Amino acid sequence: MNAFCDRYGPWALVAGASAGLGEAFARKLAARGLSLLLLARRGEALERLAAGLRSAHGVEVRPVVADLGAARLAEEVAEATRGLEVGLLVYNAAYSVIGPFLERPLPEQLRVVDVNCRGPLLLSHLLGQPMARRGRGGIVLMTSLSGSQGNPWLASYAASKAFNLILAEGLWAELRAGGVDVVACRAGATRTPGFAASHPKRNVPLMPAEEVAAAALAALGRGPSVVAGTLNRVAAFAFGRLLPRRASIRIMERATRRLYE
Ligand SMILES: NC(=O)c1ccc[n+]([C@@H]2O[C@H](COP(=O)([O-])OP(=O)(O)OC[C@H]3O[C@@H](n4cnc5c(N)ncnc54)[C@H](OP(=O)(O)O)[C@@H]3O)[C@@H](O)[C@H]2O)c1
Repeated sequence: MNAFCDRYGPWALVAGASAGLGEAFARKLAARGLSLLLLARRGEALERLAAGLRSAHGVEVRPVVADLGAARLAEEVAEATRGLEVGLLVYNAAYSVIGPFLERPLPEQLRVVDVNCRGPLLLSHLLGQPMARRGRGGIVLMTSLSGSQGNPWLASYAASKAFNLILAEGLWAELRAGGVDVVACRAGATRTPGFAASHPKRNVPLMPAEEVAAAALAALGRGPSVVAGTLNRVAAFAFGRLLPRRASIRIMERATRRLYE
């Protein structure tokens, strides 16, 4: 526990922390003794979670109410982290647009780029610099099995998740000699409020959020990426290595349309 704090503490910033996987990350990090900056848009949910974590683990927890797609994100995060040693960034939040690409408004598609690509790039740069200067730290970028190939009906989301995987792989190699560990966590369907809010029309096997967060944190320092869950590892192997790419894309299309059409 102390080794984890020494390497990734004393503060962690969880971006997208009020629910689901972000909340699971926050609980696990507080249990390991890290102080937390919990960032999301819903202040009340953050306050509730922060109060619970303070009393359960005696760590300092500060809610940061911000929109990861906002133009002023860099300034808001710089303000929230001023004077703090942030040794771990978990970029968890994502925005998805489900349905035929051309039928969904362009502003929604561009918001995918802001929240899922600009946000993690910006926070990795902003917080990675002081980590590299200190010679220690960690960055976890949440991505998805959707990001392993094109995914019709989730085209912009899947592309943004590929961006996170490739960004993490590059940073993993670039930063590790300087003591900063980077990992991308490739999740499959996971039981979260975000997944429920997407209104799936069928039941699919869901991983508990706690198990996904645990897999991501366990992979820190190993990287460059981890697939959470045995079934998902089999799927990732089949889609990435066994099947022709066209077949993977078609299977992802069928699976997504069965879930949402
Ligand atoms: N759930 C799955 O099945 C699944 C599968 C594969 C990959 N993933 C990946 O796992 C990550 C988390 O997914 P999840 O299902 O846990 O999502 P979620 O339940 O929707 O939670 C997302 C969190 O991010 C916050 N958030 C969303 N947009 C934000 C914004 N613009 N600014 C600030 N905070 C924002 C939300 O809080 P507020 O609403 O309070 O802002 C919430 O705390 C994502 O990167 C996703 O791509 C999930």
